[in-house]
Amino acid sequence: MLETKDLTIRFGGHVAVNGVSCAFAPGTLTAIVGPNGAGKTTYFNLISGQLKASAGTVSLDGQLLSGLSPSARTHAGLGRAFQLTNLFPNLTVLENVRLAVQATREGEHRRGLNLWSIWSDHKALTERADQILADVALKSREHATVASLPHGDQRKLEVALLMALEPKVFMFDEPTAGMNAAEAPVILDLIRKLKQDKSKTILLVEHKMDVVRELADRIIVLHNGTLVADGEPAKVIASPVVQEAYLGIAKEAAA
Ligand SMILES: Nc1ncnc2c1ncn2[C@@H]1O[C@H](COP(=O)(O)OP(=O)(O)OP(=O)(O)O)[C@@H](O)[C@H]1O
Ligand SMILES: [Mg+2]
Repeated sequence: MLETKDLTIRFGGHVAVNGVSCAFAPGTLTAIVGPNGAGKTTYFNLISGQLKASAGTVSLDGQLLSGLSPSARTHAGLGRAFQLTNLFPNLTVLENVRLAVQATREGEHRRGLNLWSIWSDHKALTERADQILADVALKSREHATVASLPHGDQRKLEVALLMALEPKVFMFDEPTAGMNAAEAPVILDLIRKLKQDKSKTILLVEHKMDVVRELADRIIVLHNGTLVADGEPAKVIASPVVQEAYLGIAKEAAA
């Protein structure tokens, strides 16, 4: 169970996330919605450790994560999409994914200089990386360098690396933003598949209400950094506070 308690961050006088207390259970996909600037990405950054909270705590399965570095939190099972700046731009897509798989399975690679085990490890890593690339429909680009990828493929690669980590908690922040009509369904399918694994906790920031409606088991709404609604999708969507927040989004989308 991922849990935030009174999680807060101030930027100068501005409270971007304001005392958010929420628990996220395995087997549940929670959509986090709210107008632009509501604090959704900042909330993710506080959970993943990219930003240091002004107050409050983050814990996972009873382990306090507050104060830990982002990589220590990743190690504890929090999966936040990689920033492409963390990658090796001149290595290929396949090489990058294989490195991510390898980093995750580090423990299995300390068997000394046994050529058979090195070979079989290498084969297993490549097979896993191949499978992930097939899942995100990037197989045809596996030998391209990361630097040469168009935007949509870079976003797919971010998701591929997240899959490679095999985290307990998946955090997707507008995963299909900037993708074209052919690319977005691949990623949504992947999230759908991920949902079937009831040991996983999925958090999804998403503006597209049709996507939220279909995928979410639960919706929480942030508004000015505050948690203003939490519950079953149909009820939350019908609530006045959300209708108001969505009018804001509808205006943005139309602009
Ligand atoms: N590093 C920062 N320094 C100062 N202010 C920040 C910083 N990061 C975010 N903010 C502010 O915090 C508020 C919340 O921003 P955030 O990016 O979390 O919103 P969001 O809900 O993700 O919006 P969007 O839907 O547009 O992605 C905004 O007012 C933003 O300007
Ligand atoms: Mg955001």
